[in-house]
Amino acid sequence: MEPATFVLFGATGDLAKRKIYPALFQLFVDQKLPPSFSLIGLGRRGLSHESFQANVEQSLITFSRSEVKDADVMKKFLRAFRYHVLDIDRKEDYTKLLRLVEERENELNITPNRMFYLSVGPEFFETIAANIHESGLDSANGWKRLVIEKPFGHDLSSARQLNTKLNQAFNETEIYRIDHYLGKPMVQQIGHLLHSALSEQEYRTRKIASVQITANEVLGVEERAGYYDHAGAIRDMFQNHMLQLLMMLTIELPNRSSVEEVGKLKRNVMKALKPLNKTDVTHHIIRGQYGAGEIQGEQVVGYTDEPGIELGSHNDTFIAARLQINDPFWKDTPIYIRTGKRLKEKATRIVIEFNSEGPLKDLLIIEIGPNERIFFQRSQSGMENSDVEIPIRSQHSFMKEVVKDAYEILIHDALIGDKTYFAHWDEVELSWEWVQPILDAYRENLLPLHIYPAGTYGPSESDKLLEIDGFHWWFDA
Ligand code: BG6
Repeated sequence: MEPATFVLFGATGDLAKRKIYPALFQLFVDQKLPPSFSLIGLGRRGLSHESFQANVEQSLITFSRSEVKDADVMKKFLRAFRYHVLDIDRKEDYTKLLRLVEERENELNITPNRMFYLSVGPEFFETIAANIHESGLDSANGWKRLVIEKPFGHDLSSARQLNTKLNQAFNETEIYRIDHYLGKPMVQQIGHLLHSALSEQEYRTRKIASVQITANEVLGVEERAGYYDHAGAIRDMFQNHMLQLLMMLTIELPNRSSVEEVGKLKRNVMKALKPLNKTDVTHHIIRGQYGAGEIQGEQVVGYTDEPGIELGSHNDTFIAARLQINDPFWKDTPIYIRTGKRLKEKATRIVIEFNSEGPLKDLLIIEIGPNERIFFQRSQSGMENSDVEIPIRSQHSFMKEVVKDAYEILIHDALIGDKTYFAHWDEVELSWEWVQPILDAYRENLLPLHIYPAGTYGPSESDKLLEIDGFHWWFDA
């Protein structure tokens, strides 16, 4: 692996503490960081290198999954960390940053490969990319990469605008868009898993009746009102994570797939997705918002009573959708997707229902979180215990491995320059294109906002969406 400098914007932020530092530390313990790795943390607050290192150490003690919490190992890891005060808008700060980066590269005698990781609000992406470019931070004689986190834009036109701006400093091959669902080991395998499950003898000739993709959450809006009240479930989860799950499930990956192939296959899925116009939206989309209720024995307030939420907010915290892929394999199979906050339980899963006569249904279940497994089940309502569970014979070997954190996988991939499991611009743009009529319908209030009690499975209209097609959501207890 080539040496590199990791330039982290937002180094004192929550994501850095909870995810980025623990992931880097785990990579260090597993000896998967580049030799002479160097990290420069940036933030608005004045901090000495030592206090920065002490803060990072604290976050490792709290959030690292590593069994190695040995002080000496941590000290060794933290030696690579430096801190620099930076005001995102001040050009001089970038010039000073360049000096520090060069100084460290000389000290360590490493090639100027630079990874700029923007762990800051998306409203800062354009300014930072422009200032990186103007200051010359991006013009050294090594590689440069930009890592950003979703959301990539607020709608189709802002996403395009953002991309054009980023492209002034970084080309597409240098931009790594993190959608952390793509870092989940199970998600990386779902295309293969589905394929190998369908080649099990019993299922070879069976037709798929429907697909359900669920990402239910127990958590509410938490401390993110400012962001979430303008994003809603559709931008926070649906446009990115849920559509990525759909793409990853329905592409048929060749065994050794290049990043270009994966990108092309995903694009094909998005292009084959039947577009919705505003009238279709009212028949295919259910919009919901949580009201007060009880979750796991605890009373919780409704969305509009959460701190920081605008009075009478119409923001969505739940979405259910019926989709159709117009390709020869999927064209007769309705695909249902739902995601929401303050639901009864945390569950991210895909259920494939096969055509069958009679009350017993054959299901292929892919659980993505909180547990990871894949199995067949013969079931009437999805409530039975699993005595008729038929595990898949050809389980993939990764199932036996320790499940890695999505950030460990993605940061490592970015460091080695593997873009396979990052969101590519084309599919991001196609996702926004598909979602845009729904955003328009929301804005014009063409869709009712169904209030559901917290602690349920969302509004009953989401059940009706399936009932009219003769289906129901599996595993709603
Ligand atoms: C994030 C969303 O991208 O994904 C959050 O912004 C959501 O609102 C989270 O809670 C869910 O991720 P996971 O991995 O817990 O399913």
